[in-house]
Amino acid sequence: MPAVQITGIGAIAPSQVVTNDDLASVVATSDEWIASRTGIRQRHILRPDESLLDLAVQAAQEALVRAGRSALDIDLLILATSTPEDLFGSATRLQKELGAVRAVGMDLTAACSGFVFAVATGSQFIRTGTFKTVLIVAADGLSRWTNWEDRTTCILFGDGAGAVVLEAGETEGILGFELRSDGSGVHQLTIESQRQAVDLPSSFAVARSQYQHIYMNGREVYRFAVEAVPDLIEKTLAIHNVVPSAVKGYFLHQANQRILDAVANRLRIPKESIASNIARYGNTSSASVPLILEEWVKADRLQPGELFVMAGFGAGLSWGVILARWGRI
Ligand code: COA
Repeated sequence: MPAVQITGIGAIAPSQVVTNDDLASVVATSDEWIASRTGIRQRHILRPDESLLDLAVQAAQEALVRAGRSALDIDLLILATSTPEDLFGSATRLQKELGAVRAVGMDLTAACSGFVFAVATGSQFIRTGTFKTVLIVAADGLSRWTNWEDRTTCILFGDGAGAVVLEAGETEGILGFELRSDGSGVHQLTIESQRQAVDLPSSFAVARSQYQHIYMNGREVYRFAVEAVPDLIEKTLAIHNVVPSAVKGYFLHQANQRILDAVANRLRIPKESIASNIARYGNTSSASVPLILEEWVKADRLQPGELFVMAGFGAGLSWGVILARWGRI
């Protein structure tokens, strides 16, 4: 069975920066409240004339360059997003923009677990020998679905995109993964579609769907995250006989610094091994794991052969953990 390696990574956020003070002019909040409850100081937000897909293209191109691959090498392209610019999916548009004419493209929706679920999915096609080169792109523009009058949610989210190239190789990069879903918590975090009857001069009845703003029960999602995520990390590490301290870096979905700190306490590892850039980006949904992983790679904080963990969690409820070994970049 071929091994799966991560051979390239790219990430990008929009240039427009919105600070906590900027938000304090829109809703009743303060830098002190946001920073102390979440760790967030600023986030990057798409301007009205910017496209999420353009960010996805840039992240993907950077990952391909770092992997030493061209778009023509891609067999499969998975776009992890909950905010496609087309409800039918945006993967084939991305395929077109990249010129990845050989690739099969599909969208994968798993909210803030999207990147982890997509890497796990893509790696299976390599392991079975179906495909050799898989491009995973995670891109979300939650600012477009935010209620800017709701101070409990609008302070949390930012926009961004990240990508990795997965390739068949000889040394194992993706050592294992565990994925979970719990639909009993689906109502805790939603962007629901509401139906409205359409008045037609007809003998049949139809409705039109319209998506609403983000709704979140913050306390419940927090409770879920601080229990489920460290639990699954411990299980995944135990399956592979790895102790938490043997892992160089933990790249967790960046939702709240307090969640990251709680995971560090639970695993009894130094806070510094849980990577964090939430202060600068906020919660970028599926993009948050590749955004922070790319920072560590660029800064040479992760060396070939070192173990690392990626974990996503969020709406669904969904959560997933990947144990990996850094390879050539
Ligand atoms: N600025 C100032 N005050 C705010 C505020 C804001 N932006 N948002 C809420 N408040 C107020 C509330 O109205 C409430 O006031 P009250 O006590 O007078 O009713 C008070 O602050 C406490 O609100 P609460 O919701 O209990 O805060 P919290 O400590 O639970 O923090 C979150 C809220 C959202 C930061 C926290 O619940 C969280 O991070 N949850 C997890 C979110 C998450 O991970 N989501 C993504 C998963 S992908």
